[in-house]
Amino acid sequence: MGRIPQEIIDQVLDRTDIVEVISGYVNIKKAGRNFKGCCPFHDEKTPSFVVSPDKQIYHCFGCSAGGNAVGFVMRYENMEFPEALRMLAEKAGVEVPEQRADDGMGGSISAKLYEVNGLAAEYYHKLMKSRHGAAAREYLKARGMTGGTADTFMIGYSPDSWESLRKYCETKGFSPAVLRKAGLTVPSDKGRGDYDRFRKRIIFPIFNERGKIVAFGGRVMDDSLPKYINSPETPVYNKSGVLYGLNFARKSMRDKGCAVIVEGYMDVIMTHQYGVKNIVATSGTALTSRQAAMLKRYTKTAVMLFDSDQAGETASLRGLDILIEHGMEVRVAALPSGEDPDSYIKKKGREAFESVLEQAKGLFEYKLDLLIGRLGKRDVGGIVDEMLPTISKVGNAVVQSDYLKKLAERLGVHEASLRYELGKVKPDYSYRSGNESGPPSGKRASYKTGELHLLGLALTDGKRASRIREETPPGSFSEGPVKDVILRVFDLYGKGVTAREIPGRLLDEYGSDEQRRGAVVQALARAEIGGDPDKAMDDCLCYLKKERRDEKLRSLTLRLKKAQESNNGDEMRELLVKINKIHKEKVT
Ligand code: UTP
Ligand code: MN
Repeated sequence: MGRIPQEIIDQVLDRTDIVEVISGYVNIKKAGRNFKGCCPFHDEKTPSFVVSPDKQIYHCFGCSAGGNAVGFVMRYENMEFPEALRMLAEKAGVEVPEQRADDGMGGSISAKLYEVNGLAAEYYHKLMKSRHGAAAREYLKARGMTGGTADTFMIGYSPDSWESLRKYCETKGFSPAVLRKAGLTVPSDKGRGDYDRFRKRIIFPIFNERGKIVAFGGRVMDDSLPKYINSPETPVYNKSGVLYGLNFARKSMRDKGCAVIVEGYMDVIMTHQYGVKNIVATSGTALTSRQAAMLKRYTKTAVMLFDSDQAGETASLRGLDILIEHGMEVRVAALPSGEDPDSYIKKKGREAFESVLEQAKGLFEYKLDLLIGRLGKRDVGGIVDEMLPTISKVGNAVVQSDYLKKLAERLGVHEASLRYELGKVKPDYSYRSGNESGPPSGKRASYKTGELHLLGLALTDGKRASRIREETPPGSFSEGPVKDVILRVFDLYGKGVTAREIPGRLLDEYGSDEQRRGAVVQALARAEIGGDPDKAMDDCLCYLKKERRDEKLRSLTLRLKKAQESNNGDEMRELLVKINKIHKEKVT
């Protein structure tokens, strides 16, 4: 790529006023020599974002973002340097020479692709309106789309032909290579030249954030499959970085402080027609991190509105976590079964649609209800497994705490258990429980797993505690914090303290004794979030018995060795009998 000459860059910066540029995006007010406002790059309520007209730079004292006008535009608009500079140059009236491409296509590839996409969109759109597009117009009309809406979204029609677009574009000077690179044509395997990708379909041009056409979706006009075909990825189209409708929704999202996320092209278009404009579509796939980052620049709250089918739910669950990770506040709205936003707004109108959005549930409630519905309330482990990764992504510690508390209440487990489990959650989506390494808290004591689990079972249920007490003769537990705690637990039950009260009591009692506190918390987590308690109890008791037996065997063997050394026949015989007896027990 050719570089933009330095003198052109200087010229653009000379003729650009950073205050003017930034005030187009951020509400800034004069404060002394500078301008001040709330930083668009991080969350804040008191302004720490300063723009200096003297130095022609901006700086945020909160997140230490800073730079000149080009830097600001790059960051805000998610642009590369040349693109940002060109944008400012256009405003400043400076001509920037075209970058030279090195692929022999002449001119910048991106520019060419935008151009040919624009031409194709116009071609399809005009065709839809011509006598060749009667069936397409009929189809759109039947779906309730007005001519004005079709114009806004440049809806088109691709004719039933293998080469009409290619020929048309070639007469306008575009090479077959450019058309193919744009994904508008597909190479034929019979060596007969390229053919048009979209044939006999309704065409939905896909715009990028700034309204340039980067790709197309084409829908059949009947029930045949595939319903849609879409452009492949190209140098100007990266599927995960585009939200359909964002160029039309930007302003409304800012004004309303909220973005609505739906699945389909038609959902965006028809809700727009009914006046709901802060709406974008993921185009049927799960929301990506890049899409979330784009949205975040316009608004901090999002409502996900998905078709009420299983696929929709799964897509929304993944999307939720991604939005949370980007620090957005997320809610989820549900449509009556069988409806999508397009069908619903047509049937019920704008007000009903907006009230569905208003009734959106908080992310936490939504996900929890969904999991309880799907897994059943008794699968505490399963629910916790799914909820904790989400909760771990909540940046705000107060909100996170609140979620933990609510989750503990809903599931009837201790908050301390959840907090402990949360410490084990890795901040990625591949979290599974059963990870023995524990939280990275450094000075953690290690406890024997079986003993810890028994302690947990005793802590959570008085009846189980008595059974454990009965079946573990003195010496069953190894000396240490777990044993200390379980003895205290038996003691407390003896005094009539309930299972509900005991953990809190113990944590108070142990104060800063991290070893014993750790034993309480980890034991609780195991018992409450682990599997079936009765089975776990049998396993642990059995394990403890085996440990005790192994311990006994070790000590008898040691004594036997000593007896052998001192040639003590009687003792040797006695010991061998004992050892054999233990071995026999083991077999049965
Ligand atoms: P839907 O199947 O919900 O379609 O897919 P829709 O948008 O409601 O379309 P209509 O109402 O039947 O006309 C949602 C989105 O998933 C993508 C498209 O972006 C579509 O808008 N999709 C769907 C595809 O890319 N290919 C397909 O075959 C189907
Ligand atoms: Mn639909």
